[in-house]
Amino acid sequence: MTVAANRVAVLHGVNFDVLELRDPSFYGGKSLSELEHEITDWARELGLEPIFFQTNSEGEFCEYLHRLRDLADAAIVNAGAWTHYSRAIADALEIAAVPAVEVHLSDVENRDEWRRLSVFDGLVAAKVSGKGAEGYREALGLLAEKLGLGS
Ligand code: DQA
Repeated sequence: MTVAANRVAVLHGVNFDVLELRDPSFYGGKSLSELEHEITDWARELGLEPIFFQTNSEGEFCEYLHRLRDLADAAIVNAGAWTHYSRAIADALEIAAVPAVEVHLSDVENRDEWRRLSVFDGLVAAKVSGKGAEGYREALGLLAEKLGLGS
């Protein structure tokens, strides 16, 4: 029996629990649960089943990544500010060994200089930034293709 590999973990890092309080000109003004609802609809349209995780604890984020290979077939990672300095999270993503796409709501290439650096460089299949919530839709499409789903 073949089991469909269609589970996508969508991981959010530090400060995403209060997304609606963050600068709407960068982050859109939605709450995380509103964003997750949109992601769920887009994922299901593509035949994907999303699971969500958010924490403000770097250690918990790493521990979730350690378990990821048992929980999901692919991942979307928006680690927030950790993206720019947490080698620990990069190492943990490497351990997870599932296809991953890095997403940022804001255009990290054209903000502060320090946001240009990503510890996930070379570890992710793609990086999507500056497209707001739509960036997650694009990431889901890329992962659906990688998992051999859809047209
Ligand atoms: C972010 C960009 C990061 O630079 C920032 O620290 C965040 C959010 C984004 O989605 O645009 O927390 O990852």
